[in-house]
Amino acid sequence: MANVIIVGTQWGDEGKGKIVDLLTDKVSLVVRFQGGNNAGHTLVVDGDKFIVHLIPSGILHPRIKCLVGNGVVVDPEVMIMEIENLRARGVKITPANLMLSEKAHLIMPYHKALDLAREGRKGKAKIGTTGRGIGPCYEDKAARNGIRAVDLLDRKTLLAKLRTNLDEKNFVLENYYGVKPLSRARIAREAARWAEFLAPFLGNVVLEIDKAAEKGRHILFEGAQGTHLDLDHGTYPFVTSSNPVAGTVCAGAGLAPGRIDAVIGLVKAYTTRVGAGPFPTELKDKVGRHLGRRGQEFGSTTGRPRRCGWLDAVVLQESRRLNGMDYLAVTKLDVLTGLDQVRICKAYKLDGKRIGHIPADIAAFARCEPVYETLPGWKEDISEAKRIEDLPDAARRYLDRLSELAGVPLGVVSVAPDREKSIILHDPFA
Ligand code: GDP
Ligand code: IMO
Ligand code: MG
Repeated sequence: MANVIIVGTQWGDEGKGKIVDLLTDKVSLVVRFQGGNNAGHTLVVDGDKFIVHLIPSGILHPRIKCLVGNGVVVDPEVMIMEIENLRARGVKITPANLMLSEKAHLIMPYHKALDLAREGRKGKAKIGTTGRGIGPCYEDKAARNGIRAVDLLDRKTLLAKLRTNLDEKNFVLENYYGVKPLSRARIAREAARWAEFLAPFLGNVVLEIDKAAEKGRHILFEGAQGTHLDLDHGTYPFVTSSNPVAGTVCAGAGLAPGRIDAVIGLVKAYTTRVGAGPFPTELKDKVGRHLGRRGQEFGSTTGRPRRCGWLDAVVLQESRRLNGMDYLAVTKLDVLTGLDQVRICKAYKLDGKRIGHIPADIAAFARCEPVYETLPGWKEDISEAKRIEDLPDAARRYLDRLSELAGVPLGVVSVAPDREKSIILHDPFA
């Protein structure tokens, strides 16, 4: 039995979906534990592409069950749409292979309206959120005003909570942000549809996990976002409103800490970031454009172009400290193919001093300049590599140096989007 957590070590979009889908073969449950449909996880099987936002990336494997934990914020509209879209493409989804925690908080239309209104008001200082209502929903959860999935089952309670929330939200939307208030009758009508559709999927995720663990089954926990978007440990305020770090499985899915067996840190072979916030290794030159073009770096959720730059080992070291990664899964190594030289940032220069950590003060982080190590590039197509020995020497040297600087051994190397295009050096479920 092994309980394995997949976490992003950068600013998201490291390829978590692909690696979860790859490893799902061996497990009986795949569990999301934080974030919401701000996530966009891409799965490619025999050339067919699927992007999931809320449903765990194990859904293409018919034998396993996917759980959405209490720590996830769920937009019912999106959940229903995602189920219907996957069904339309031949993926079987029933309560037998998908469960939504009764305790998960629901993203309501007013959360989305507030997210957008706030970002609009912030102007240049905006975070560049996905506009999916993530922040406002987690705020209501912390304020103990939230509407949870279980409330869908009790129409009277739901309508009472809706009235209290909407009175306040509409006041703020109308009087502070100057936007149109939302109709309570309309949300109430929509909620009736959500309840009817989603009720069969609601359940006790903690019990389900415990049952599988007691039977000695393997479980995969699928992180969303990345360590540096973490509300506490990330580059605040340019972060998301949940904790993408590995330890969140305990609160967000109810896995007891002693049951965590391994953590796999997902690393894109370079760095990308969507939205605003400092990014020391960002490249606005030819190389940045190469990465964006070859890596097709457009957001899986909003379609925005992702900012691209060199790999940052300071970012990875911080992720090792926070997540306790046992292995790295490195993705998109193929995207670096064709560059004469490749670089890794191994420290920062801040006001003339060399530092090896990310300063808490965001203005200081914005002043950090990368200190690079330069390695030779490679020109060979690596997308057919099946074993590490198939990679050119320069690519292997790059991987070795990445792993050495991060202080974590390599577990998987991915060389193309398809599930099959992966070199497995260490199987966490072996
Ligand atoms: P996630 O949010 O961490 O699941 O990552 P996304 O799905 O948002 O972004 C990763 C993108 O890279 C997706 O389009 C994947 O299909 C793609 N991808 C994953 N691994 C590889 C790889 O090794 N090479 C290439 N070229 N693309 C990859
Ligand atoms: P996956 O799981 C990349 C970013 C947004 C924005 C900030 C806050 O696909 O890796 P939010 O809507 O969460 O309040 O936005 O966080 N962000 C992501 N960036 N990948 C993601 O998820 C992200 N989820 C949120 O772009 O900068
Ligand atoms: Mg993504």
